[in-house]
Amino acid sequence: MKRGKTTAEPAPPATLFLFGAHGDLVKRLLMPAVYNLARDGLLDPHLHIVGVDHNEVGDAEFAERLKSFIIDQARARHPEQAEDTIIDPAVWEPLAKRISYVTGDFTNDETYQTLGRTLQATGTGNAVFYLATSPRFFTEVSQRLARAGLLYEQPNAYRRVVVEKPFGSDLETAQALNTQLLDVMSESQIYRIDHYLGKETVQNIMVNRFSNGIFEAFWNNHYIDHVQITAAEAVGVETRGGFYDSIGALRDMVPNHLFQLLAMVAMEPPAAFGADAVRGEKAKVIGAIRPWTTEEALANSVRAQYAAGDKGMKGYREEDRVAPDSRTETYVALKVMIDNWRWMGVPFYLRTGKRLSVRDTEIAICFKPAPYAQFRDTNVDYIKPNFLHMQIQPDEGMWFDLQAKRPGPALIIDNVKLGFAYKDFFQMQPSTGYETLLYDCFIGDQTLFQRADNIENGWRAVQPFLDAWREQGGLSEYPAGSDGPAAADELLAREGRTWHSLG
Ligand code: BG6
Repeated sequence: MKRGKTTAEPAPPATLFLFGAHGDLVKRLLMPAVYNLARDGLLDPHLHIVGVDHNEVGDAEFAERLKSFIIDQARARHPEQAEDTIIDPAVWEPLAKRISYVTGDFTNDETYQTLGRTLQATGTGNAVFYLATSPRFFTEVSQRLARAGLLYEQPNAYRRVVVEKPFGSDLETAQALNTQLLDVMSESQIYRIDHYLGKETVQNIMVNRFSNGIFEAFWNNHYIDHVQITAAEAVGVETRGGFYDSIGALRDMVPNHLFQLLAMVAMEPPAAFGADAVRGEKAKVIGAIRPWTTEEALANSVRAQYAAGDKGMKGYREEDRVAPDSRTETYVALKVMIDNWRWMGVPFYLRTGKRLSVRDTEIAICFKPAPYAQFRDTNVDYIKPNFLHMQIQPDEGMWFDLQAKRPGPALIIDNVKLGFAYKDFFQMQPSTGYETLLYDCFIGDQTLFQRADNIENGWRAVQPFLDAWREQGGLSEYPAGSDGPAAADELLAREGRTWHSLG
């Protein structure tokens, strides 16, 4: 995020080491993002890219593969786009000349000696080590980088390590990983990624709240009844069955993505739009989530798994590399309470799941209803509460649900919308969401990255659910392609509320 400037300047020269260069993340997101940054003139002409992985590939062949990843991804998103218009040779060719590849074993010190020589040859001094690897390598790669002297910073030679999710699998493992990383580098060198923070609509929540004075007036428990945060996916586990089966929906989505959304909505205004101030406020609000007892955690959560649905949609247990008797949840709904002055008494309901009817990530803020007395002698028997919707994806935008009188002699109240759609106001270049995050890492802005305490507070808040479920977790079912389990509706119904409908 660039503050105080109307246009961003190119990042300083650096060498970007991509560990796990043949993995899915590099293919689908990182390389298209690097290309988009180059297209937008945001990379220094001396940015070098070095792939690191165990496969044997030459530099030119690696560069060609990266090019085809970029084309494939662009075609997947925009099938109508002609192939020869996707890559601009004036952008790609200079970049391709600075792409190289190191074949190496992540667990062997020799690999890191080679990386040291490669870095010296690029002459940039600055280096970003991007761990797009399986989490089991996070500690080892960092330790070996340190042992090879590659994490030693000097003026004009920063050394940064980007760590992907999952960052631990519970509070204890996340704390251990933080300790291990902080043993070999400082907090200012660690960039813990949560790709939700790369989304424009997520960054916009803070800007909306804090640049529109009107919101602050009603952004509290006097006017807000409850908040719903939804991340519904229509896709299933695709090719990640093996990985997903060991973690489930709660670990995959809640302490990270959903809590980022919750923090953006619920945090106090930071004193500045800087990394320390913003991350400090987020740590406070996530830290204020009430720790449930086992009984409360069970009563305030629903875990469910998708079963076979209509149109031949497979059940979760029939997916590739998923145990046929798996009890892993693919859907979770939770109620959490934030124990601070602003939010005391306001429930935050969170839900996320795979193989739901639609893709829909949104925040719905439900306001307290207007009093009914004035409509007592009319046809109106119910006044719907106002909602503010922040639509994160797709159809990015924001709108208020208001009540209005339907034209005509009778007093009939209709629900109308007041809103804005991104596409009506902004022309957005194709992007993967990783552009901002990569750029911020190159310029050393950690605002959109998770600090150690942010991560640990997230795990601390979900730990009661993990513990309660380990002892006595039930598992509901929902048909693939549906809106989720009935039990999730009951979670709200027993408090007289309903979920905003998906889509
Ligand atoms: C990832 C999860 O972090 O986020 C995936 O591991 C999930 O399971 C994805 O599908 C959702 O991201 P997005 O950007 O599609 O909402």
